[in-house]
Parts: sequence; C-alpha cells; structure tokens
Amino acid sequence: MRFMNVAIDGPAGAGKSTIAKACAKELGYIYVDTGAMYRGIALYMVDHKIRPTDIEAVKQALLDVNVTLRYEDGKQLLIVNGQDVSDRIRTPEVSAAASLFSAIPEVRKALLDLQHDIAEKNNVLMDGRDIGTVILPQAQVKIYLDASPEIRGKRRYDELVLKGESVVLEDIIEDVKQRDYQDMHRETSPLKKADDAIVVDSSYMTIEEVQNKIVSLVREKENA
Ligand code: DC
Repeated sequence: MRFMNVAIDGPAGAGKSTIAKACAKELGYIYVDTGAMYRGIALYMVDHKIRPTDIEAVKQALLDVNVTLRYEDGKQLLIVNGQDVSDRIRTPEVSAAASLFSAIPEVRKALLDLQHDIAEKNNVLMDGRDIGTVILPQAQVKIYLDASPEIRGKRRYDELVLKGESVVLEDIIEDVKQRDYQDMHRETSPLKKADDAIVVDSSYMTIEEVQNKIVSLVREKENA
C-alpha cells in the first residue's frame, strides 16, 4: 500500500504550520514539521558553540546529534538526543541559526532519511521548503502556500505585539524579505515552487478557507 504524501512548501510566515496542522487533524494524517528538525540541529550547534562556517565541526557534530519527532496527545514534540526541546527551538536566536545551518548540504543530508522514512510509513502532510521539489517529488498532492511579504510581516507583527513586544512593522517586513531572499537563493535545495504544485495565496483567505481548499484537493486524490 502506498501512503498519501502531501507536500506543503512556501516562505516563512505564509501559515504553513497552522494550516498543515489543521488539515492533518481533519484528514487523520501525521503532520511533519521539517522546519522543527532544522531548528533542532541548529539548537544543538548553538548549544555546542559550533559556527556554520566551520564545516568540519558541523560534520563532526552531525555524527553526535539525533533528532526525532514524537507524537503525544496529538501534539508534535521535537526531541534532540533524548531531550524535549519543542519550546527552545522557537527563539529568534534559533530561527536565525536554523536559516544558516539549513543551507549546509551535509545538514540537509542528515535529515533526508528521517523525512523519507516517516513519509514511507504514514499518511503525511509534510511542510518545509523543498518537500515537493526534493524530499517527496512523488507526493500525490503538492501545495505552494504563499502570501505577500507585507501580509506575512503584518501577521508576524501582530503576534509580537500581542506578546507585548515593541516592534516596528517596516522592520519586520524587511526581515521577512531578507529571509525569503536567503531561502530562495541558497545553492542547496532553495525554496522553489515544484512544477506540479498548486499555488494557494493565503493573503486574503481565512485559515478555514485555505484548510478547506487543501483538504478537498487531498480528498479528490484519495478517491482517485
Ligand atoms: O519553517 P521554519 O521557520 O520552522 O524553518 C526553519 C528554517 O529551516 C528556515 O530558515 C528554513 C529552513 N528549512 C529548510 O531549509 N528546509 C525545510 N524543509 C524546512 C525548513
């Protein structure tokens, strides 16, 4: 039996994880957050004071780091060498480090088998940057979830304001654009729409609208 593989790619802040989580719940699939895996590796490197420019040290550290996803009560936990680091990987420091370490080919290779293995054994919705292009090119459904940098910046700004942080909207939009540029222009597995991906622009859609659209695309394929 071949399991259903749904790939969701797109830039930071397009709503991939919120949408993928909701769709996975509705469909009864496993949600696989590959960004969390890169964050886990980045956290390990930061904790061990390894710089992304020191490729030899990075390669050595990759032999010692073990990243796994665990599912508990429908919640996804990220485990690094036996420790639950689900909260620690969400800091701005780890976000910045993840962007740098994920550009290193050896780091991407280290996560490839783990990502393939989960998709081979489960119905999955996997989100990331290169899922439809590199990781699961045979996925039955591929979505490229996009939104304008201004809208993504505004969403991020609202989240931070809600947390009580004092931030400037223009700065956040500039950060978003810079991250896009980094993710789209790196040499290894840049963020790119797969030729057979369906573009969903969430700029002026509600979460429910996006969710309904993706779920119906998956259902169509399930019944095909
Ligand atoms: O989606 P996120 O913000 O949690 O991802 C963290 C970083 O990892 C981000 O800089 C992009 C990178 N990433 C990647 O290169 N490939 C993936 N499949 C997922 C994330």
